[in-house]
Amino acid sequence: MAKSYLIVILPGDGVGPEIVDAAVEVLEMVQDLSGQFTLIYEFHQAGAGCYQEIGLPISPEALEAFQHAHSTLKGPVGLPEVRRPDGTEGGLLGGELRVKFDLFANVRPIRLYPNVATPLGNREPDSIDYVILRENCEGLYLSRGVGITTAQAATDTLLMTARGCERISRYAFHLARDKKRGAPEDGKKRVTLVDKSNVLRSFAFFRKIFLEIAAEFPDVAAESLYIDAASAELVTRPEHFQIIVTENMFGDILSDLGGATIGGLGMCPGANFGEKLSYFEPIHGSAPDIAGRNLANPTSQILAAAMMLKHLGESEAAALLKKAVWGLYAQKRIPLMPNGAVKGGPAIFVKELKDVLKALVERT
Ligand code: IPM
Ligand code: MN
Repeated sequence: MAKSYLIVILPGDGVGPEIVDAAVEVLEMVQDLSGQFTLIYEFHQAGAGCYQEIGLPISPEALEAFQHAHSTLKGPVGLPEVRRPDGTEGGLLGGELRVKFDLFANVRPIRLYPNVATPLGNREPDSIDYVILRENCEGLYLSRGVGITTAQAATDTLLMTARGCERISRYAFHLARDKKRGAPEDGKKRVTLVDKSNVLRSFAFFRKIFLEIAAEFPDVAAESLYIDAASAELVTRPEHFQIIVTENMFGDILSDLGGATIGGLGMCPGANFGEKLSYFEPIHGSAPDIAGRNLANPTSQILAAAMMLKHLGESEAAALLKKAVWGLYAQKRIPLMPNGAVKGGPAIFVKELKDVLKALVERT
């Protein structure tokens, strides 16, 4: 009998609903082609629209469902004009899901697809293929909502714990082992810690723990790099990297830098993992300026859905979906605009992707 999985869907704001719909339509097709599993969806409210309506970024029903589902597929959330009294955005979920449920590992693959324009010049597809592992539950963003502000000054605190540094370091080495390909430059399995340990004690603390954990994984190369140097190398020598592990805010910033090198954030999925719970999402915002205009690129959301399938244990289906997205770009089926938008939006993308999926399955 086919296995069935309960999936919470959080469509989010801006382009969220249209790219999430696209991902669900594609998942339905992959499910039919596979015949191995059934996905049961439960749609819930979260994001800026939700904050406007009920004063909370995620509904209590969604939080409840999140904890009982096999996994969650989340769209981008937030609208610039929806703010809390303290000036921060009202529709964001980072603190709600990542911190509340201790989803400490934020996995963000950065991979260059064929025929996607990169500002780095002529590059072979897959010459950029690394994962940013962002620590999700501490670092500077732990200060979210609790920093101290007076009329004259404001402070946020960066916190590192031994447990947090240890578990994210260990996770990075496991990722390096699990990822099939090593670094494009030399095929090596390599974990690079990105920090600022020349200046801040918290990062020196992280580096010391990272090096201790590295000793448990003699088959994986370990190195560390300061954040400023790393920012330069991600532009000049991205092929060197396989896994990058870093603090919460550094990971947030480097993800956008990495995304820009592979055609924009529309190409970037992300996963958030705790001991048991998880959710999958694009790493970009809700792009309200292009919402409803048939311009959004659903690649990030669809690749997030593929990551979810893999996590559920449906590796074959996940690989099929990833292969189809790769094929779609390789065959130049997507009318990509120079700014990364798709002419025709999610509808045209899904139509083409379904054709590629069908052809892939018929061939085997
Ligand atoms: C991300 C986003 C969020 C974050 C924002 C929207 C709070 O930028 O997932 O990278 O900082 O984590
Ligand atoms: Mn970000």
